[in-house]
Amino acid sequence: MAIFNTYGSHLLSTGSSVPDLLINNDTISNFIDTSDQWISTRTGIRERRLITSNQSIIDLAANASNEALEKASLQPEDLDLILLATSTQNDLFGSASQLQASLKAINAAAFDITAACSGFVMGLVTAHQFIQTGAYKNVLIVGADTLSQWVDWSDRTTCILFGDGAGAAILQRNKNNDILGFQLNTNGNNSHHLSIGYSYSETIKNSQALETPIPRYGKIGHYAYLTMNGKEVYKFAVSAVPRSINKCLEEAKLSTKDITWLLLHQANQRIMETVANKLNLPMEKVLSNIQLYGNTSAASIPLALNEAFKTGHICNGDIIVISGFGAGLTWGTSIIEWKTLQ
Ligand code: ACO
Repeated sequence: MAIFNTYGSHLLSTGSSVPDLLINNDTISNFIDTSDQWISTRTGIRERRLITSNQSIIDLAANASNEALEKASLQPEDLDLILLATSTQNDLFGSASQLQASLKAINAAAFDITAACSGFVMGLVTAHQFIQTGAYKNVLIVGADTLSQWVDWSDRTTCILFGDGAGAAILQRNKNNDILGFQLNTNGNNSHHLSIGYSYSETIKNSQALETPIPRYGKIGHYAYLTMNGKEVYKFAVSAVPRSINKCLEEAKLSTKDITWLLLHQANQRIMETVANKLNLPMEKVLSNIQLYGNTSAASIPLALNEAFKTGHICNGDIIVISGFGAGLTWGTSIIEWKTLQ
């Protein structure tokens, strides 16, 4: 996507938060037929953090946001817009307003973005649009998910993959622009490969046979557990993500040689290796923390980004290519040139 800058977006700060409860592969192999060896060699995951009953997705999102606000020396009331990328909102109407209330960000509009593991990239690009037009100055983007609440813990093909967490970033209007390009995609024809579908109850199914369908009172069904065709999602990721990255680089008049860091959605270490290989990038340039957190969906990219800043991996002028992919199917790339403000 060609970018016509009116105003630039500066990546001001990041934050992240994970629950305290740590579950390693050995613990999981105590209750399902799996092993640390299978999980770590097939996915790279060794442990993950899971939410407990005294925590909510809002707590994680607020912790991550407060870290980002503090680092940016901003007050919550300085925020103009909050975008919460999540697929595990605790209210069907959206959770962003609860986050806004929790932060006391009284001047901010807030809404959810649901795009599974691509949610943070979609959120970042959306925030950039509001900044470019001059509409808003300070935009908080949060990726947060608690998919542990939506997986069937007796299904070894899915439950081993996911963990809970949140990551946040603040984009601020600036004369310089850090977002060098983006490229977003959706293929709804393949949405069945990864979903948390809604099932109607028997009452409702039967009512459709009636001449006058009964009103849909009360609890009429439920969401199913997460289902995934792992092989298809894997094939999709390793073919679509390099294409998206190459297209994005080309449009930004950059090449893979310009990449300082590749930050992919943390779904599977083997996916990261295959994508890096297709781009001819050494693994030293790939940011990965999947070993510690598993697949945290919309949180995975900002969580890894925040850790990379904390550990001093990212330096002034570095070019970071971030790419998300997942349910929808959705996928997308954004290129950030990180600069310290003068
Ligand atoms: N422990 C032990 N054995 C297992 C497990 C397990 N946890 N899970 C599956 N197996 C078995 C299978 O039953 C199968 O046995 P069989 O050969 O006797 O039939 C064997 O291991 C191989 O199974 P595969 O499904 O072929 O394993 P694969 O190498 O494809 O790895 C995986 C599975 C890890 C899920 C992989 O396909 C993958 O990572 N896919 C992509 C997932 C992804 O990226 N999702 C991202 C989006 S997430 C989002 O948007 C929310």
